[in-house]
Amino acid sequence: MSATAGSKALTPPDVAACKGEKPLVCLTAYTTPVARLVDPHCDVVLVGDSVGMVLHGLQSTIGVTLDMMMLHGKAVRRGLEHALMVVDMPFGSYEESPEQAFRNAARVMAETGCAAVKLEGGEAMVSTIRFLAARGVPVMAHVGLTPQAVNAFGGYKVQGRGEDAQRIRHDAFAVAEAGAFAVVLEKVPEALARRITEEIAIPTIGIGASPACDGQILVVDDMLGLFGDFRPKFVKRYAELGETASEAIASYAREVRERRFPAAEHVFADAPETVKGGETA
Ligand code: KIV
Repeated sequence: MSATAGSKALTPPDVAACKGEKPLVCLTAYTTPVARLVDPHCDVVLVGDSVGMVLHGLQSTIGVTLDMMMLHGKAVRRGLEHALMVVDMPFGSYEESPEQAFRNAARVMAETGCAAVKLEGGEAMVSTIRFLAARGVPVMAHVGLTPQAVNAFGGYKVQGRGEDAQRIRHDAFAVAEAGAFAVVLEKVPEALARRITEEIAIPTIGIGASPACDGQILVVDDMLGLFGDFRPKFVKRYAELGETASEAIASYAREVRERRFPAAEHVFADAPETVKGGETA
């Protein structure tokens, strides 16, 4: 039996109802401990297919599989009580037909206990979003820069500048009309994000799309400074945990080489002793 969303967890309708009421706080998570950290602060926790790049060292999200999403989804489920959990549908798992999308989304929901899935694409995904929404699969859409189409775009470029704005507006309208409960707007100019946010009835969640959006999402490893030297303009680093970890590991290595670790307090005596906290070691 898979875990299911707890009764205290936010639902897709709760998140949709935040439109115009309060900013939506969203982050990614891929593991139980990180899910526990972000849950008290977030409205939405996304098990993003960015997991492939962030945790598995892939060059893009294209190689991410349904099994990877399922494994990380199950781990995140165990760490959430409050936030709405959304799982990304990976490249190749939903584009073929609405039926393929339903089959795989149903598996993801049943096995991970998530309450919604996210898929990339605008106009081209309308019939799929409509099919899923009508069959009990809440869909978060994703338009603008859609990383699974990196090869078609020729890189991770800003989308919707100048005349191209109309294409992204059309995509956002189309997914909202098809029944998505929210839409991620990635890497689009501020004026366009503002216009879309004012025009559509569902919340826009921005990443590199300005404060004009109804909410914001970041990859948690990026904002914690854990993902190497990746410093795109739209990411604010709220901590430098990578540097802190690197210093800690260097200290450990030095102390082992100098035979300063383990120290007396880390060593077991011959006879059992009572240690701090009352346990017997
Ligand atoms: O895969 C991901 O993490 C995402 C978000 C950052 C929007 O799609």
